[in-house]
Amino acid sequence: MRIMIIGADGQLGTDLVRTLDGELSPLTHADVEISDRASVDAAMLKHKPELVINTAAYHQVDLAEDNPAPAFATNTMGARNLALACADHDVDLFHVSTDYVFGGDKRDPYEVTDLPGPLNVYGTSKLAGENFVRALAPRSYVARTTGLFGIAGSREGRSNFVETMLRLAGQGRDIKVVADQYVSPTYTRDLAVAMGQLIETRKYGTYHITNSTSCSWLELATAVFEITKLTPNVSGTTSAEFGAKAKRPLYSVLENGALERAGVPRLRTWREGLEAYLTERGLHAG
Ligand SMILES: NC(=O)c1ccc[n+]([C@@H]2O[C@H](COP(=O)([O-])OP(=O)(O)OC[C@H]3O[C@@H](n4cnc5c(N)ncnc54)[C@H](OP(=O)(O)O)[C@@H]3O)[C@@H](O)[C@H]2O)c1
Repeated sequence: MRIMIIGADGQLGTDLVRTLDGELSPLTHADVEISDRASVDAAMLKHKPELVINTAAYHQVDLAEDNPAPAFATNTMGARNLALACADHDVDLFHVSTDYVFGGDKRDPYEVTDLPGPLNVYGTSKLAGENFVRALAPRSYVARTTGLFGIAGSREGRSNFVETMLRLAGQGRDIKVVADQYVSPTYTRDLAVAMGQLIETRKYGTYHITNSTSCSWLELATAVFEITKLTPNVSGTTSAEFGAKAKRPLYSVLENGALERAGVPRLRTWREGLEAYLTERGLHAG
């Protein structure tokens, strides 16, 4: 299968490139601008994919509150451009979305059938992007995921939550982490494998794909330091005290049952994924 991967040097894109079988066209932001329909069409004509995977996103969640335009350009109009191009060229589309489409009022994992209710601009722009994909691309997958960490996040100029914790510990800083937001942190390598398995089923639709079990951001930070044997001074705080610009759901754990019903096994636990990531980073003996 000819697969065009958008965002190929991002966290998920990097792992898709090294995980998926097929004839891959890995495109970085320098190769395609998805908010520009002409750029998308040129890429489609050049690479003639049978499947497009969109991992590109604008995810500066706090900055987007005061300046929403870049979020809607990439997350909404970019998704729409890809959906229209895939419909025109009779191509499958796999679009990646986020737990932030949910409001966080539940205390048990969100099903794919639960009603979204985003709390911030980023989540709103991603939900609108999903809706364009479902409405316009006749053969599409939409996969929501949470709290990604992958090797590309350790590169110069990029980051993820785990890398931020490692950096702060390296600087000898006291670290405060929110203890009242619950997610399923997900290793992009595990996500990429599951996406490949789902693509083989040809069962289009909306899915949740995350590592299994859940934790607070404080529990994730604590696990990072346990596994790496670092000993910074880390303590918990509340979302209210932390005072981030954008509101975030207090609970956005995603139920992966739809994935399992499609024939793809559930992913290992987030802690196992984290250990594998830190092993890949050379920070854990494995
Ligand atoms: N990161 C998370 O914790 C998280 C959580 C839940 C869901 N997700 C979703 O998962 C997906 C993958 O996230 P990720 O962490 O792998 O992202 P990432 O590491 O930031 O990678 C995104 C890639 O897309 C490229 N890109 C951004 N805007 C683009 C545009 N307008 N046109 C073309 N390429 C563009 C970026 O290039 P440049 O960097 O060069 O601009 C980068 O290569 C996204 O859809 C995101 O919304 C992420």
